[in-house]
Amino acid sequence: MARLSFALSLLSLLAALAAAQDKYPDTFDQLDIKALLANKDRIEAAITCLNEDSNSSCTPTAEFLKSVLAEVVRTDCGKCTEAQKKKVGAFFAHVSQHYQQQMQELLDKYDPTKEYRAKYAQSWAADGIKV
Ligand SMILES: *[C@@H]1O[C@H](CO)[C@@H](O)[C@H](O)[C@H]1NC(C)=O
Repeated sequence: MARLSFALSLLSLLAALAAAQDKYPDTFDQLDIKALLANKDRIEAAITCLNEDSNSSCTPTAEFLKSVLAEVVRTDCGKCTEAQKKKVGAFFAHVSQHYQQQMQELLDKYDPTKEYRAKYAQSWAADGIKV
């Protein structure tokens, strides 16, 4: 009995560690999303970064987002912390409402089969993201 409960608590400890490591690093947690969204040049540079093959318009944060964006789309931000999810959601809500053409380009690049925008349309709409 003692052995079993030891084994079980070891298992739940390992599960907790695995879950913690399954989150993205705190790169976005430093990002002031309100300041970003108030600055057209920064928004447009971030969109360009995400849409271009080159990284020349990328800040380190945008470059990181770009490196995980296909996964973010596929998993509906499944590895995002709550704070990251809010920031990513706010960014794409703004882009989808104010830069519709570029938003379509991003969707076509990161969701080429259109599978995920169909699957998550409702969840994204709740965050203000139009697809
Ligand atoms: C852009 O940055 C990503 C993430 O750091 C990297 O994987 C990729 O190779 C870079 N692409 C180019 C064209 O340098």
